[in-house]
Amino acid sequence: MAKIAIVYHSGYGHTAKVAEHVRKGAASTGAEVTLYKAEDLASPESGPWNELNAADGIIFGAPTYMGSASAQMKQFLDATSKAWFTDAWKDKIAAGFTNSGSLAGDKSSTLNQFSTIAAQHGMVWVNFGLKSGFNASGHDFAGALNRAGFYNGLATQAMTDLSAEEGPDASDLKTAELFGERVANATLRWVRGAA
Ligand SMILES: Cc1cc2nc3c(=O)[nH]c(=O)nc-3n(C[C@H](O)[C@H](O)[C@H](O)COP(=O)(O)O)c2cc1C
Repeated sequence: MAKIAIVYHSGYGHTAKVAEHVRKGAASTGAEVTLYKAEDLASPESGPWNELNAADGIIFGAPTYMGSASAQMKQFLDATSKAWFTDAWKDKIAAGFTNSGSLAGDKSSTLNQFSTIAAQHGMVWVNFGLKSGFNASGHDFAGALNRAGFYNGLATQAMTDLSAEEGPDASDLKTAELFGERVANATLRWVRGAA
């Protein structure tokens, strides 16, 4: 059994929806997957830190706001400095996802932010490993997986004038499930190897 924590922020519900689909995909492997809100981990002195410390893998998720992770997510990332001091997350699996309004939308900055903090903690970063389904003539945008074409993590898109019920659409949510499955399988292999 592998334990996976997904820590995310969502201002308007779109990223929360993606997080739920990442959870669904990860849980399909048999891993124990729990969602945590970044707001509940804003201070190193309170919140479910012991549960994160006990996880085998941690997945970071946030909307991209103004070209980086949202402020609430950054507050959580800063609060992880207490875990950094004690190497509490060293050698855990790490991965990240972000959602934004534009197809690209500077989401690379957010994924780089997540992979950097993972490196600071000595975590082992798992990328997506799914080729883009929308980069050649004849590809159908509507059903394409990983259509934004990110590899460092999961990147989804929701139109800014649509509610979280309406976006991200089904292909991005399916992409999110495949991402969760990928990270969970990597975590399971990592845990088995350690045993
Ligand atoms: C303050 C703010 C900044 C934003 N900056 C970006 C951005 O840099 N790139 C982008 O593509 N979308 C940007 N957006 C759009 C959001 O990323 C998009 O609406 C996203 O779905 C919101 O996710 P949430 O509902 O989980 O908060 C921004 C939205 C807000 C409110």
